[in-house]
Amino acid sequence: MNLILMGLPGAGKGTQAEKIVEKYQIPHISTGDMFRSAIKEETELGQKAKSYMDQGELVPDEVTIGIVRERLSKPDCQKGFLLDGFPRTIAQAEALESLLDELESPLDYVLHVDVPQDKLVDRLTGRRICPECGATYHVMYNPPKVDGKCDHDGAELIQRDDDRAETVSKRLEVNVEQAQPLLDFYQDKGYLQAVDGDQDIDQVFEVIDEKLQAL
Ligand code: AP5
Ligand code: ZN
Repeated sequence: MNLILMGLPGAGKGTQAEKIVEKYQIPHISTGDMFRSAIKEETELGQKAKSYMDQGELVPDEVTIGIVRERLSKPDCQKGFLLDGFPRTIAQAEALESLLDELESPLDYVLHVDVPQDKLVDRLTGRRICPECGATYHVMYNPPKVDGKCDHDGAELIQRDDDRAETVSKRLEVNVEQAQPLLDFYQDKGYLQAVDGDQDIDQVFEVIDEKLQAL
C-alpha cells in the first residue's frame, strides 16, 4: 500500500498517519519529523533545515528530495509506505514520480485531508507533542489523559517551535500557495482522494479506512 497524505499545516496529517500505520503496518515517512530529529541530533541536515523551518519556509527541494530518496530506497518500504508532508512542490512530486518508477512501486492513493483555513490556526497553536515518542495532542480537541503528559510514556509535552502564532501564519501562507498545483497534479493522474478533515479525529479515520479497505 503506497500512500501520500496531503493537507495544509494542522489539517491532521500526523494524527491520521499514526492511526494508518498502526493498522496497516507500513512505514510512516514524515519529512517534518525527519527534519525535527535531525535538528535535535544537531546533524548537518538539521543545521540546513532549521533556519527555513523556524521562519515557516519550505526546506529547499534538493535537500528534501535527497532524504526521501534515501528513505524510500530502504527495504522496509517494499511492503508499502505512507508519505506525510511530501511532496509539497511540483518539483518534489516529479522527483517522486521518477523515483517510484525506478523502484517499480506505483502509488495507490493521494489522500487529501481538507480543512477550512480558518480552523487551522487554532489547531496549530493548541497542539502539543511528545518529545520522546512523537505523539500529537491538542489542548482542547485531543487532550492527554493526564494534563501535560504523554499517554504512552508520561513524558512532559511540549509545543513545537514553529507552532508559535507568528510562524503559523507564514507557514499557512507558504503552503496555501503550493497546494493547488499539487492537488491538480494528482487529480490529473487519477490518484487524488478527498477526505473531509473537518470532523472528529475518529470520523476522519473512518473515512480514510474505508478507502484503504477498498484497495
Ligand atoms: P511538517 O512537520 O510536515 O508540518 P506541517 O505540514 O506544517 O503539518 P503539521 O505537522 O503542522 O500538521 P498536521 O497536518 O500533521 O496536523 P496534526 O495531525 O499534527 O513540516 C514542518 C516544516 O518542515 C515545514 O514548515 C517545512 O519548513 C519543513 N518541511 C516538511 N516537509 C517539507 C517538504 N516536503 N518540503 C519542504 N519543506 C518541508 O494536527 C494538528 C493539531 O490538530 C493537533 O494538535 C491535533 O491533535 C489536532 N487535530 C488533528 N485532527 C483533528 C480533528 N479532526 N479535529 C480536531 N483537532 C484535530
Ligand atoms: Zn510519548
